[in-house]
Amino acid sequence: MKEQFTISIVGGGSRYTPGILRMLVTQKERFPLKKITLYDNEYERQHKVAIYARILMKEYYPECEIVDTTDPQEAFTDIDFAMMQIRAGRLKMREMDEKIALKHGRIGQETCGAGGFAYGMRSVPAVCDIIRDIRKYSKEAWILNYSNPAAIVAEATKRVFKDDFRIINICDMPIAIMSIYAMAMKKNPADLEPRYFGLNHYGWFTHVLDKKTGEDYLPKIRKIFQTPPEEFSKAGHQVDGSWMETFAFMSTMINDYEDFLPSTYLQYYLYPEHMLAQENPEYTRANEVMDGNERITFEMLDKVAALGKLKGTEFEPKGGMADAHASYIVDLAYAISHNTHEIFLCMTENHGIVSNLTDGMMVEVPCQVGINGVEPLNVGEIPTFQKGLLENQYAYEKLTVDACLEGSYKKAWQALTLNRCVNDTQVAKAILDDYIEANKEYWPELK
Ligand code: G6P
Ligand code: MN
Repeated sequence: MKEQFTISIVGGGSRYTPGILRMLVTQKERFPLKKITLYDNEYERQHKVAIYARILMKEYYPECEIVDTTDPQEAFTDIDFAMMQIRAGRLKMREMDEKIALKHGRIGQETCGAGGFAYGMRSVPAVCDIIRDIRKYSKEAWILNYSNPAAIVAEATKRVFKDDFRIINICDMPIAIMSIYAMAMKKNPADLEPRYFGLNHYGWFTHVLDKKTGEDYLPKIRKIFQTPPEEFSKAGHQVDGSWMETFAFMSTMINDYEDFLPSTYLQYYLYPEHMLAQENPEYTRANEVMDGNERITFEMLDKVAALGKLKGTEFEPKGGMADAHASYIVDLAYAISHNTHEIFLCMTENHGIVSNLTDGMMVEVPCQVGINGVEPLNVGEIPTFQKGLLENQYAYEKLTVDACLEGSYKKAWQALTLNRCVNDTQVAKAILDDYIEANKEYWPELK
């Protein structure tokens, strides 16, 4: 095993990167690094993060070098891990996605809603291009991909990079939810292990097990969540208005669906009318993020650059909730490099894992993770209600990837029609035509 690793953060200019860097600092004993390369297609934006990164490393991690580049060869030569979190078209395009859908009376949410379709059509080509570049310079690097819309991206990477087991598609939402359960039960999240099935942002916890005793806490959690726990005001990874509402809404879903504990994103599929009524067509989640977290992060970068230091300033890293959440990325890298076989919820191809779901579906299920990649645990048969929802959603995701890779208008239209947040042939066409117009720079041509 290597003593020190070299990693690339793909999407180095992301608002999440400073938190990831702070988290890497806190994890340096466990996961020692000799070099972090920030890679992005936008030099200026990423350079702001790089200035912060250099100050952070100088004060807290002098043995780790920082490089920032827009050159794939420099970014990907001889790396052990690529941690990938890109947003093709940035928040401006997310805003377009959301507002176009709302104009047609539909939810434009960026992963589940119609927005996820538009974003998927931008993300798939961008992610695949970057993976090709990584493979040109580092054939065996582990690619930990959490770019959204993850379910669609995973369906594409499975097809385009067949048998490349070193690409792992994973999302932080199940971890965030598990942390909320842990908090409500006054447990440490590291003591819990999930059993779960579904697609990304479209799944159910079937058990929440105590790693030591094996006790299933699901009944207790269900009881606690019959009313939203008060701690919610402090919970979560993005503590702001719409996330608070989302976490509080978990109680409604848990009360309505008593079998399993649903993923937060199921609110969009199972309560579309309620969710649509919450939306403001003039001011969407993208606006909230641009005016909130994104602005605050970049203002912080400017201030730190002006100060030239972190220690002794208000910006000194404190290991907040958001940074703690990012540690799942290192947990995953550690499980791979140390071959621990620890359990993570990853996206992987269904081959009998869920016996009554289509083979080849990119299911999100518990997997043991080690040096040979992800090895899924068996789930078995799932109930008809969930099966119906998942098959419908997977058909939508599959058609989206088909449309993108084949340049097919027909399949794009069918995909959007199948999306439960759209669900109408004519509305799907109207949304699609507006999306095509807005995405000329990003989408493959649809014929
Ligand atoms: C969760 C999801 C991510 C998603 C993020 C969006 O972490 O797992 O897939 O990107 O929330 O949050 P935002 O604050 O941008 O709406
Ligand atoms: Mn996610």
